[in-house]
Amino acid sequence: MRPHQTDLEWWKTAVVYQIYPRSFQDTTGNGIGDLNGITERLGYLVDTLGVDAIWISPFYPSPMADFGYDVSDYTDVDPLFGTLEDFDRLLAAAHDLDLKVIVDWVPNHTSDRHPWFVESRSSRANPRRDWYVWHDSKPDGELPNNWQSEFGGPAWTFDERTGQWYLHSFLSEQPDLNWRNPEVAAAMFDTVRFWLDRGVDGFRIDVAHYVMKDPAFADNPAAVDPAAMATFKPMGPFNAWEHVHDRGHPDVHSVYRGFRAVLDEYDGDRFSVGEIHIFDWDEWASYYGHGDELHMPYNFSLIWAGWDADTFRTRIRALEAVVPAHGWPNHVLGNHDEQRLATRYGPENARTAATLLLTLRGQPTLYYGDELAMRETDVPAEQEQDPWGKRVPGTSRDGCRTPMPWTPGPGHGFTDPSVAPWLPFGDDAAERNVETQLGASESMLNFVRRLLRLRRARASLSRGTMNLLDDLPADVLGYEREHHTERTTVLINFSSKPQVARIASPGPMLISTDATRTDVDGTTVTLAPNEALVLGSARG
Ligand code: NOJ
Repeated sequence: MRPHQTDLEWWKTAVVYQIYPRSFQDTTGNGIGDLNGITERLGYLVDTLGVDAIWISPFYPSPMADFGYDVSDYTDVDPLFGTLEDFDRLLAAAHDLDLKVIVDWVPNHTSDRHPWFVESRSSRANPRRDWYVWHDSKPDGELPNNWQSEFGGPAWTFDERTGQWYLHSFLSEQPDLNWRNPEVAAAMFDTVRFWLDRGVDGFRIDVAHYVMKDPAFADNPAAVDPAAMATFKPMGPFNAWEHVHDRGHPDVHSVYRGFRAVLDEYDGDRFSVGEIHIFDWDEWASYYGHGDELHMPYNFSLIWAGWDADTFRTRIRALEAVVPAHGWPNHVLGNHDEQRLATRYGPENARTAATLLLTLRGQPTLYYGDELAMRETDVPAEQEQDPWGKRVPGTSRDGCRTPMPWTPGPGHGFTDPSVAPWLPFGDDAAERNVETQLGASESMLNFVRRLLRLRRARASLSRGTMNLLDDLPADVLGYEREHHTERTTVLINFSSKPQVARIASPGPMLISTDATRTDVDGTTVTLAPNEALVLGSARG
């Protein structure tokens, strides 16, 4: 049992581990992971790895057009993943181990099979018509405006029967709810209460900024510099537009004040984090509200930063400048929508990236499999699953969603040896798996375990202040974390050449990605190519 901290909310010091349930552990032999699989692996998460919380991507009833992000019932479990009783067992077992559980909440859109939408589209006179965003054609018969779906094509689909268009910011199977209708807000907040009543510790909110759009439905302007937008995420033709009217309308804040009021009806520091892709830092930070909205918006700024010390430094500084005093920062380097970080940043930087993630100030989210440095899997076209990838070349997310390899042998401990999983294993799974890496002391997994232990042992890392260091070579990012008398220094060499760095606060080596390093002597150090080095010292 880990020591309880009572002075800070749990989510401030917690390391969160994201589980994509289809790919974590199959217990039924159908090649798809399930909730009982997660329950079976809690020992790995808590004792072997040492994380504090899990976020589970959607497991609710769904036609799976977008693999669960098209919810047809917010208050149940899809039979593919198990039952509500399985969820309750998972939650109880996690709590017995002092592991927090965060679930996904998808407020912007439902499935087109959700009974609300079935009613809404049945006739213009249906009482639920206004629960979704319906619009007439322009007088010339054209679409209501130029808004685009993130997954390609117009964000509007014409409904022949009722002669109007409905809005879908994602697939046409994912119609957007009309959050301007108070009945929608009330019904959706009840779904939040449903999971809070069962005891969940928090919510990850899917595309949180999307729920309020321009009520006048103005056209989006063309992007001034589409290439610049790709430095945040390459999204194909979607990046040709500035998305100023189709999401993030200021009224969104009233939604999250309402949402927060619901969370605050409950005891126990229930937590919320919003998936928010907004590149203006002040607008991004506005989702913290005055401590009365989200606990935090996700910080995705480092994902597509490129592996570059200066860009990381600039974005970390920008983040630190806007997080309000009542707020708390966070860092995400990978998730189920992004290319695997070991591929994106380069495999030689995977350990360094893990060091950054677990030593920067704020809550880290570790994506399942990144503790093994899983690579982006090359999924053959005939096995492609992701609807986005099928519609927009180059955007497939299949490669980062492949099953967790637990063992070297067939089935890799994920599913029965004779069963083909829903996505193929990485072609290195025979070597890159939990069992093999646990047996090799210098493996990525053992390195991440050591980092997690270090973070737990050092309050300066889990809760300390952060000071970015100047006076370092251009390719070296450095920072000091401090808490009371404890200081931790982190030096990261982003280049593939050795770099000589000054050590402002000398102290013994705590960990290094360079397995040959035993210690550091003196006030300068020659960092090995791609080395991350962590030193400890006491404050003066
Ligand atoms: C963001 C989710 O992370 C992604 O997986 C999903 O496809 C879209 N939102 C739509 O819900």
